[in-house]
Amino acid sequence: MRLRNITGSREFIADSAQVVHDECSCRGHWAERFGNDHPIRIEIGCGKGRFIHEMAARYPDVNFIGIEKYSSVLLRALEKTETQTADGHTPPLFIRMDAENICEVFAPGEVEGIYLNFSDPWPKDRHAKRRLPGRRFLDRYRNILAPGGFVQFKTDNNELFDFALEELKDSGYTLVSCTRDLHSDAELMKDNVMTEYEERFSSQGNKINRYLIRI
Ligand SMILES: C[S@@+](CC[C@H](N)C(=O)[O-])C[C@H]1O[C@@H](n2cnc3c(N)ncnc32)[C@H](O)[C@@H]1O
Repeated sequence: MRLRNITGSREFIADSAQVVHDECSCRGHWAERFGNDHPIRIEIGCGKGRFIHEMAARYPDVNFIGIEKYSSVLLRALEKTETQTADGHTPPLFIRMDAENICEVFAPGEVEGIYLNFSDPWPKDRHAKRRLPGRRFLDRYRNILAPGGFVQFKTDNNELFDFALEELKDSGYTLVSCTRDLHSDAELMKDNVMTEYEERFSSQGNKINRYLIRI
């Protein structure tokens, strides 16, 4: 997702207390940044932020961080902070960055869980290395995950999901659960939090794939 450049988005983000601007200095010190030692979970490619906001509201004992590459998209997630925190819960933090540099922002073992929701499929072979559930990224995630930490990946794109499963081979992760039709599984749906893309694609009749892996 890349929205048209929105005038003033960079300035808005620069002024926002919800955005971490010194993310590399927080590496190894996130507990101090949050002021507690709750586990940290991140969503990579948080888009307009519906998922990470709702997770923060549901799980107040977890520290959530949304990571997004584009200012114009992050702006939309920040706009939700005001409306979605009316009930008094602590909103998530956000970082505007490319996930390529994730190991510069989190120290080994600092993250409990990573959510990849409807990651861009990058269908051309020459762009395969940009796919967030790909092996290059799985290796980075393993670096920052705590022992027993997890990655949860959801997509309606069957080719990307096949690719993601293939990438798990010899990766060191254990496949804990895997479904090709999340929305027809009442048990798995109990703790499912919908994203903007999930709502759109499932309402068009697309089935949603989801896996959970652990190190
Ligand atoms: C298809 S959208 C999905 C948004 C949201 N997760 C959802 O499910 O509604 C993918 C998002 O990931 C972001 N993204 C893609 N590659 C990224 C990267 N390397 N680092 C950070 N964000 C990235 C895009 O800018 C886009 O906002």
